[in-house]
Amino acid sequence: MYPRSFSDSNGDGIGDLPGLLSRLDYLNDGTDASLGIDALWLTPVFPSPMKDFGYDVTDYVDVDPIFGSTGDIDQLVAECHRRGMPVLLDWVPNHTSDQHPWFLESRSSKTNPKRDWYVWSDPASDGSPPNNWPGAFGGPAWTLDETTGQYYLHSFLPEQPDLNWRNPDVVAAMHETLRSWLRRGVDGFRLDAIGRLIKHPDLADAGLRDGGDGEPIADNHNNYPEVFETLRGIRRVFDEFPGTVAIGESFGTPHEIREFYGGAALDGLHLAFNFGLIQDERQRAYVPWDAAVIRDIVTRSWEALPQGAVSCWALNNHDRGRFVSRNDADGRGNERARAAALLLLGLPGVAVLYQGEELGMPNVEVPAGQLQDPARFHIEGRDPMRTPMQWDATIGRGFTTGTPWLPFGPGEVNVADEDEDRESILWLYRDAIRIRREHPALYEGDFMAVDGDTDVFAFVRRDGDEQVLVAVNTATEQRTLTLPAGSWTILLGSRSTAATMEGAALRLEGLGACWAFAR
Ligand code: GLC
Ligand code: CA
Repeated sequence: MYPRSFSDSNGDGIGDLPGLLSRLDYLNDGTDASLGIDALWLTPVFPSPMKDFGYDVTDYVDVDPIFGSTGDIDQLVAECHRRGMPVLLDWVPNHTSDQHPWFLESRSSKTNPKRDWYVWSDPASDGSPPNNWPGAFGGPAWTLDETTGQYYLHSFLPEQPDLNWRNPDVVAAMHETLRSWLRRGVDGFRLDAIGRLIKHPDLADAGLRDGGDGEPIADNHNNYPEVFETLRGIRRVFDEFPGTVAIGESFGTPHEIREFYGGAALDGLHLAFNFGLIQDERQRAYVPWDAAVIRDIVTRSWEALPQGAVSCWALNNHDRGRFVSRNDADGRGNERARAAALLLLGLPGVAVLYQGEELGMPNVEVPAGQLQDPARFHIEGRDPMRTPMQWDATIGRGFTTGTPWLPFGPGEVNVADEDEDRESILWLYRDAIRIRREHPALYEGDFMAVDGDTDVFAFVRRDGDEQVLVAVNTATEQRTLTLPAGSWTILLGSRSTAATMEGAALRLEGLGACWAFAR
């Protein structure tokens, strides 16, 4: 959830915690008429100058007044627990705000005790930055601090200086921020940009793209091998609070994802995001909706996953173009989104949804004068995927009584109208989540890919003698799949007409997907 865009209680146009508290029934009211989600992750709500909308933190153990108070978090945790939903906050360990008291001290002089809490380095001999690292949001990853004549490192914006995780005092202080919330009853954290905590010890130059002629590779200080030891240390903090969970925002190859879990020992993070359904391993291109490509990424990821680990998939988040719009070149993004919902919720492991996905929300074109994302000058701006939830078709969309911080998307995509329409994508998500919970095969069963047409990605999930087949046709024309042995019945289609049984075969309409059941 992106709280800034979920529900605004006081008319300032910005979503907040009291707004969220008033909408919990939508997420899970214990009946089939709500989404039935199992757990809630909120992007950061800590005090922040909002240069990167909360990913620039000035105090890790408080709440920004724009969102509410620590009391609201206590209430949220209590209300969510009453509904059986754990609550996860978003921990930003790689960097603080440049306004964090630690950084203000660190930059004040070269001899300040906190100098080494951040990554400082002398200029190169010609006065330029110490190395060629680019920031993930463009420009050099270094900014010169005039007062002390040294550069500081920032993997993202200059307002987000990187902490020095090689300094044990930083490690201890940051661990303590986790404990503070876990003691308070929060159930876990999503860990931001977690592969970047440990930099190359010599701050060596990054390799260049295109065999040495191109730009420096931005992810040179991503997943530096020592980082996995640092993650083990973080895991031990969670172990002090049994039942809590750490989910890493992890980028990399299936093998690197394995390392985030701690490899075979499983002593790293409990869960590591696999963004393979969104972008390629190097985060350059969006993944096409193509069965062959998806089969490859899913099977390679499954094979690399350590025994006993639970995978963690997503189609959307607050940083990437929404699935519907990524796959809409021919105007059929919505059909693909419906099929993708059955893929996501049919895969083994945790499925993470991003608010609005369940409504089929598209990217919203934001007029130039209303753009907000500071990273937009360098990367694909993220405002279009962060526009507010649309609860109904009224002028404030049920989101606010004031002026929303970002404009709304198409009026017809809203909770109230989709709630009335039993064929809506919202109801598809509700049904799929309910059915997934009813079938252990889907919830925690094994995974076996099924061979067939190249345009159909199909697999069976099995638990004891119960089997669920997940089949997705990414071609725009009809395809047929020979069913594995068993007596199959259709549980759910991406549309009511998406799939039909024909003897020992399953016919899938163009861009259709289904779940089928056999015992
Ligand atoms: C992660 C967040 C993104 C943020 C960045 C820097 O990628 O998801 O929103 O801008 O880290 O903290
Ligand atoms: Ca508000």
